[in-house]
Amino acid sequence: MEGADTIAAFIAEPVVGAASGALVPHKDYFKIIRQICEHYDILFIADEVMTGFGRTGSMFAIEDWGVVPDLICVAKGMSAGYSPLGGVIAKDEIYEVFKNGSGSFVHGHTYGGNPLSAAVAVAVVKTILEDNLVENSRTVGEYLLGQLQDKLSSFWYVGDVRGKGLMQGVEIVKNKNTKEPFPASLNIAEKLTVTLMKFGVIVYPGNGMADGENGDQFLLAPPLIITKAEVDDLVERMEAGFCEFEKTISQYK
Ligand SMILES: Cc1ncc(COP(=O)(O)O)c(C=O)c1O
Repeated sequence: MEGADTIAAFIAEPVVGAASGALVPHKDYFKIIRQICEHYDILFIADEVMTGFGRTGSMFAIEDWGVVPDLICVAKGMSAGYSPLGGVIAKDEIYEVFKNGSGSFVHGHTYGGNPLSAAVAVAVVKTILEDNLVENSRTVGEYLLGQLQDKLSSFWYVGDVRGKGLMQGVEIVKNKNTKEPFPASLNIAEKLTVTLMKFGVIVYPGNGMADGENGDQFLLAPPLIITKAEVDDLVERMEAGFCEFEKTISQYK
């Protein structure tokens, strides 16, 4: 509608985080996006602020779709949250434009290039590589997904259990078959989060994924060092929390 000339870039999270609870696109999705971007000379940006640095079982989630983006946004996992840090990874051909142009990329922040954050990130990345945490995220993540699907899918109010690596999501619905959501006014995701906290499980609730307003889900993103035994403990607590929540949610059926 707008014309390719008016579009600078396509940006997407390889696995959608807060907006829709670990929604994993079809295996061909990003290949098609990449082709469209190439055809129309549009940059493809992968927002890996949440998914990067092993979270989904690959160093960068987009790797699993077999495509290379032009730019990757990174942050959270790069310093494991211990010190604030964000960055952009660019292809050489993009970097060269700046290098051969003005020679600098004018984009300053008060704390840009912060040495403490940079040192933390170096230590974090070293640990991720030396302790095989990406592999742990993939294998223990697969186990976690299997356990969650096994234990939670049968609850009448669970619409979907999904994710990749150690980034998992659960969708809460009013009708399991039609996936009809609860009205946003009921704040179901927040209520469930409060219940789960009583069982020692911290999740990240989100709303609006069904139609922009309604639709409850939460994200579950345990540390990359989690073991299978700890997953068993987590899933047991989660199941107990879901049983307890059934008493609350049944009045809204
Ligand atoms: C996927 C994603 N992209 C971007 C951001 C924004 O990152 P920052 O706060 O580092 O600008 C977030 C923050 O939660 C995020 O989850």
